[in-house]
Amino acid sequence: MAKKYGILTIAFLLSVLLAQGLKADDGYRLWLRYDRVSDPSLFKSYSRAVRGILVEGQSATMDAASRELQTGLTGLLGHALPYVKEVTSNGIVIAGSTGNSPLVCSLIGSTRINGVNDEGFVIRSIVYNKKKIILIAGNEDAGVLYGVFYFLQMLQQHQQIENLNIESSPATAIRLLNHWDNLDRTIERGYAGFSLWNWHMLPGYITQQYIDYARANASVGINGTVLTNVNADALVLTPGYLVKVAALAGVFRPYGIRVYLTARFSAPMDIEGLKTADPLDPDVIKWWKDKVNEIYGYIPDFGGFLVKANSEGQPGPQNYGRSHADGANMLADALAPHNGIVMWRAFVYDNNVPEDRAKQAYNEFTPLDGKFRKNVLIQIKNGPVDFQPREPFHPLFGALPHTQVMPEFQITQEYLGFATHLVYLAPLFEECLRSDTHASGPGTTVADIITDISGSKTFTGMAGVANTGTDRNWTGHPFAQANWFAFGRQAWNPYSSSREIAEEWIRMTITHDPEIIAGISQMMMSSRETAVKYMTPLGLHHIMGEGHHYGPAPWVSTGRADWTSVYYHRADSLGIGFDRTLTGSNAVSQYFAPLDVIYSDPAQCPENLLLWFHHLPWEHKLRSGRTLWDELCYKYYEGAETVTSWLQYWNSLDGRIESELFKQVSSLLLIQKKEAEWWRDACVLYFQSFSERALPSGLKQPEHSLEYYKGLKFSNVPGR
Ligand code: GCU
Repeated sequence: MAKKYGILTIAFLLSVLLAQGLKADDGYRLWLRYDRVSDPSLFKSYSRAVRGILVEGQSATMDAASRELQTGLTGLLGHALPYVKEVTSNGIVIAGSTGNSPLVCSLIGSTRINGVNDEGFVIRSIVYNKKKIILIAGNEDAGVLYGVFYFLQMLQQHQQIENLNIESSPATAIRLLNHWDNLDRTIERGYAGFSLWNWHMLPGYITQQYIDYARANASVGINGTVLTNVNADALVLTPGYLVKVAALAGVFRPYGIRVYLTARFSAPMDIEGLKTADPLDPDVIKWWKDKVNEIYGYIPDFGGFLVKANSEGQPGPQNYGRSHADGANMLADALAPHNGIVMWRAFVYDNNVPEDRAKQAYNEFTPLDGKFRKNVLIQIKNGPVDFQPREPFHPLFGALPHTQVMPEFQITQEYLGFATHLVYLAPLFEECLRSDTHASGPGTTVADIITDISGSKTFTGMAGVANTGTDRNWTGHPFAQANWFAFGRQAWNPYSSSREIAEEWIRMTITHDPEIIAGISQMMMSSRETAVKYMTPLGLHHIMGEGHHYGPAPWVSTGRADWTSVYYHRADSLGIGFDRTLTGSNAVSQYFAPLDVIYSDPAQCPENLLLWFHHLPWEHKLRSGRTLWDELCYKYYEGAETVTSWLQYWNSLDGRIESELFKQVSSLLLIQKKEAEWWRDACVLYFQSFSERALPSGLKQPEHSLEYYKGLKFSNVPGR
């Protein structure tokens, strides 16, 4: 009896779950879930419109496209679709490239699809042999793969697929993840477990996870991956590792993904025992040439090197009195015969004499404009300091008209709550990309510059520091998956809307319920601003825990000056903020007119950057009519309150979204709420010790004393 009762209970629970379409899910499938289409009328119309698959063209990439199409459609439509060789009925999906399929050429009426580039695709509803078919075509096989993913995503998002006429091309050529993964599998600033690259078991053991990593990237158009940390270990350039890198490259290749490595500038000394790494030394030049040739022996389509040089203690050409251009060009010359590139990072600041750290990259790189080889890109962080919750755009965007540049964003949340805070980063990326640099008069956005709208550059690109790891759901926080997804989308189209991307992701990952989509997207869209409010409102920056960057620590005052918090906020009894105007560091002068003037004037400067550019009295009046002190307090409190409201909202979704996701995010939001309050209380108390003003009325006094917050110690925080 008891047994029967148990079975009935399980059956009942299962039927409830199935009725609601809420299968327990651990997040591993990311946004590539391909669950059966839940809307009955859409399901019917999709099943009518999609009945068979015809893939023409032989290549590993076409095989991957064909597999994905079958896997996706089988999941979405609930049964496997037949592969056909000819079109004899309606509903055949034909996939192929003009480069690889005579059928596609005949359907396009040309040997090339006009209007899309090599990696672009078209999706069209057409009539062929008097039958209605859907054509997914590219000029190259990779374009077809992207088109297949796009088509599947339309179904995943419940879009209509009648009368399709879609064209899409990536606006940047190199769309890269940068993994800050060490060879011992720890990840610098990684919060989702260990490195995906199992160096010990490579090259012999290839896990499904490598393939799924490639699928996920290809599904959003990412076409390259830098496997290793910018704080590089030269060992990865030795044969023992290259054979492993080659194995990964082999897995990623069918998905259109090239592999890149970080090059430690001192590698000729570290590996070979050369006396110098001087980029003008003939032995050094020869060493790199030979090394590059050797790498291409293992990986014929190796992408090239990412280099962090003369920054934070890394070796570089300046150790030998040479310039960044000397260093980058030497490597570029070795790579050029193989079509490899160098991404040389602009994240540099003087090891000894901090002027204003925000100014240093501009100072070092603008004199070198036009001096880099054609296969060099300068990789510039979105802002001039270091991935802060808010920074102005980097003044180097627009200031290197004769140099190829690409932006670097941080997808991993080093300064934005690790993997415990829900912070959707696409609005941050979008804010930078849409910033008007005024480099060629008004209307020259960062996106215009990095997509080379003027059309004079060979290479364009966009890089994101990855947030992946061995955690079952890849990114730790389930919502951090959206940041990976959005990065890919924005690299493909730097003009895309972060709101639309959020909604697409929610549809593919969480729900189709319009009310819940609206609620979750509202939460995601406000999340970055909310984090700014409870961490660094009004342009404050770099006031987090020393070293690990966990939690608030505006009191950090010892050690290297430009690694301390007091260096950046400069709070005193008179006021707060970093004066970057003419009376201070004059960093404003690095921006094109009229931004230099706008940023210099507290009355015109965007209030969200006020304390980035100005040191202002506590009594300074803001546009709200409030004093700076009061506004600062209100912002901290608003930020923390918003997180509380999310928690309430999320709890209202119990039973309406998938249970595992519900539980995970509930616990994480609780942590975020506590940490937002910790940020608020620690910062308000600390700044109050300078302002000596009361909290605005109505705001609750922090629970603990400032000494309590200062005394907190962390023994298990990542990145110590
Ligand atoms: C930040 C980060 C470092 C990283 C560096 C970089 O400073 O904290 O871990 O190495 O950026 O981008 O090179």
